[in-house]
Amino acid sequence: MGRLTGRLAVITGGASGIGQAFAKRLSEDGAAIAVADIRHAADTRAMVEATGGQFFGAVCDVTDPAQVVRFVDQVGAALGTADILVNNVGIFPLQAFDDISNEDWHRINAINTDSLFYFSKAFVPGMRARKWGRIVNLTSTVNWLMIPKYVHYITTKAAAIGFTRGLANELGPDGITVNAIAPSLVRNVTTEASELAGMFDAIPSMQAIPRLQVPEDLVGTLSFLVSDDAAFVTGQTIAVDGGLTKG
Ligand SMILES: NC(=O)c1ccc[n+]([C@@H]2O[C@H](COP(=O)([O-])OP(=O)(O)OC[C@H]3O[C@@H](n4cnc5c(N)ncnc54)[C@H](O)[C@@H]3O)[C@@H](O)[C@H]2O)c1
Repeated sequence: MGRLTGRLAVITGGASGIGQAFAKRLSEDGAAIAVADIRHAADTRAMVEATGGQFFGAVCDVTDPAQVVRFVDQVGAALGTADILVNNVGIFPLQAFDDISNEDWHRINAINTDSLFYFSKAFVPGMRARKWGRIVNLTSTVNWLMIPKYVHYITTKAAAIGFTRGLANELGPDGITVNAIAPSLVRNVTTEASELAGMFDAIPSMQAIPRLQVPEDLVGTLSFLVSDDAAFVTGQTIAVDGGLTKG
């Protein structure tokens, strides 16, 4: 029996990267896993099923409220009611302020910020009914660093902290905690293919633990935050960043 046996965890953007590592770990902890991603989550399914866990995945654009509602119905039919929501989905294109179009601005806000609202609205009622729930939102240490070309991204990741704090205030009486995790720069397929790869030496050199972060560095903190052990931890932003920032 893992510490999450009997729980159902929904992970947005879980087809790759950090969300995929989260799915694997929460499955190892005993939770059933549901993934909403714009891509097929076949690799994540294979990882979860290899741990002996239950998995449901659906193609869902998190910016479309109708698709979110459909996903909630599908998850309900496949696995039941969610106890844990990990708002992991996010995009982080480097773009100078002058190059950000209105369309770019709305898209990053829709994916990184609006989806937190849509998914929380969808899954909080079930958590409330059972007086137990865990919501974890992904923010970033970019909030505290001098990283150019990220006006839009930093805006959304500051919003994730505000959302975490505001929602924690309202859901505490119902046994639901809301927290945020702030990674450093993480090596994965997306960052390897982007301009961010140019910072793979510089960012770790500013960390107390001077090596490049990998998705697996984040999973233990998530596992704790969604467990019974973290029942009195809410509204917090936990930096899991090798000591890059010190709050
Ligand atoms: N990688 C890093 O260095 C880093 C650092 C700090 C914070 N973060 C945050 O961690 C989270 C995960 O990042 P990652 O590096 O694992 O990203 P990733 O690019 O590896 O994975 C993101 C996933 O989101 C999915 N996605 C994108 N748009 C979508 C949409 N409209 N609807 C549904 N799914 C969609 C993608 O298909 C992908 O599977 C993000 O919120 C990101 O901002 C990442």
